[in-house]
Amino acid sequence: MCGIVGYVGREQAAPILLEGLSKLEYRGYDSAGIVVRDGEKKAEVIKAKGKLENLSEKTNNGLDIKGKCGIGHTRWATHGEPSELNAHPHVSDDMNVVAVHNGIIENYQELKDKLIRKGYEFYSQTDTEILTKLVDYYYKKYKVGPIDAIAKTMVRVRGTYAIAVMFKDYPNEIYVARKDSPLILGITDGDCYLASDVPAILKHTRNVYYIDNLEMARMHDGQIDFYNLDGDIVPKDTVEIKWDAEAAEKGGYEHFMMKEIHEQPRIITETFNSVYKNGKIDLSEIGLTDDIIKNISKVTIVACGSAYHVGMVAQYVIEDLVRVPVRVELASEFRYRSPILSEDDYVILISQSGETEDTKKAVSEAKAHGAKTLAIVNVVGSSIAREADNVFYTLAGPEISVATTKAYSAQLIAVYAIATEFARVKGKIDEEKYNYYINEILTLPSKIEKIIENKERIQWIANKFSSAKDVFFIGRGIDYAICLEGSLKMKEISYIHSEAYAAGELKHGPIALIEDGILVISCLTQEDLFEKTVSNMVEVKSRGAVLLAVTTYGHYNIEDNSNYVTYIPKTDEHFMASLAVVPMQLMGYYLSVSKGIDVDKPKNLAKSVTVE
Ligand code: F6R
Repeated sequence: MCGIVGYVGREQAAPILLEGLSKLEYRGYDSAGIVVRDGEKKAEVIKAKGKLENLSEKTNNGLDIKGKCGIGHTRWATHGEPSELNAHPHVSDDMNVVAVHNGIIENYQELKDKLIRKGYEFYSQTDTEILTKLVDYYYKKYKVGPIDAIAKTMVRVRGTYAIAVMFKDYPNEIYVARKDSPLILGITDGDCYLASDVPAILKHTRNVYYIDNLEMARMHDGQIDFYNLDGDIVPKDTVEIKWDAEAAEKGGYEHFMMKEIHEQPRIITETFNSVYKNGKIDLSEIGLTDDIIKNISKVTIVACGSAYHVGMVAQYVIEDLVRVPVRVELASEFRYRSPILSEDDYVILISQSGETEDTKKAVSEAKAHGAKTLAIVNVVGSSIAREADNVFYTLAGPEISVATTKAYSAQLIAVYAIATEFARVKGKIDEEKYNYYINEILTLPSKIEKIIENKERIQWIANKFSSAKDVFFIGRGIDYAICLEGSLKMKEISYIHSEAYAAGELKHGPIALIEDGILVISCLTQEDLFEKTVSNMVEVKSRGAVLLAVTTYGHYNIEDNSNYVTYIPKTDEHFMASLAVVPMQLMGYYLSVSKGIDVDKPKNLAKSVTVE
């Protein structure tokens, strides 16, 4: 949550900062601010409540602000309501220190009390103001340089942070520090950049440094120096980011979400091809040799939100193909319930950002018990990717829309590849079946294309339900797992209350809520469960529900029991989630558009959830 940026170099900083922040708005957008210093002159702090465009207007797109050194922030409120006062940057009383921060300081109250005793006053409700003033306090008390002052602060604070700090006495320099919050530093000839995520600097450079936990850096004169807590220099090399700048632009689509839905066939192909070599799935590059796979006897999958829904699909697919028990856990629950794990356990963490706090803590928890960990992650070099024993990178590229689509789809493909290969290695399927599954996976991109080509029908249906208040999604088996994702897509971007239920569970309570006109979306892609789900549909229809069925071509008799039907192509049933989810993504999208909602930035949400 929250995005930070910084620039020091040869150009005017403000337009670069604003442009960088626009690429990070998905991380938070309830207020924004920048500070820019023009040489020795006083730093100018400008903040605005609401979306970034308010700040851009206030500064004439940054053109009114002069100076070549600055930092900026886009906020997702944690401590203190969204307001101009609480917006970052925060300043010490005499403007000696100015800072932006992403993360949460846990012992803020104790630090605030200490600073009040030392004569500091506070104007905001934020933990970041406390952090800023603590740096100022150590800087003055010990009469040390910025690195030492920040190091003393880091030793004193508990929590998570990526901070960028400017000091009055060092007008053309930016200092940063990191613990558990994402941060990258980029460099080109004479210019230095910092950002919470790659898209913010991609236009300027692909050469980045990853700063490790409890490290600091000094950006100055076109170079970046890294330090550990003792103030010793830490040598580092740059890494080249392969994502191209265009991948982080809308490319003619009205919203990132629609663009990302359209990218799914391509990124599925690319993700699968990363492990598909000479007609076989090869997981050796991600460290999964046949010997390791043979020893895996149970799997625990840990994730949050949509990634958790991928885990739900994975549970059905892996258990059915590999015949090992799979447990799926919400990361936020997993880490606090003292999980029973040992060296025999195999824990798969799924995360687009690789920075989700709960999932990150789950990796540490699993490792502390001696379990082996595999991360399925999209962002290269992210914290979860770095901590897990092995990483399967999904090649979805930058996902900008807050509601995930293409990363979810890429995660599914990773799961299919793992399940199919595990099944082969463990002797659960013969070569013919193995080749059949691979071929089915290879057909998914063109089938998704076909669904997207028919998107106008979904739009037509969605327009009929833009005033819906409650929607139910029902399905059985993998269809239930798909419904969980369809329901989340609907509620998070169209603000319509929706629930996903295992169809057989309806009669145990939720059916009491069914009344005239309620939309029930049913998913029927599993042949053995088809009739059972139809029975549940009939039950709700007789109580007044309006039915939309998502099923495969050929099941035309479903029209007798449904008001609307969306047909999708057939594939092997284990992989149907990849197809059935697409109409649900489109349904959520079109409902959102028809209600005039900012699809890519739904309220109260942030793309990367780096708080508990
Ligand atoms: C929903 C969505 C979220 C994320 C969740 C986990 O559309 O995007 O539910 O799936 O916050 O995020 P990652 O995958 O980054 O760990």
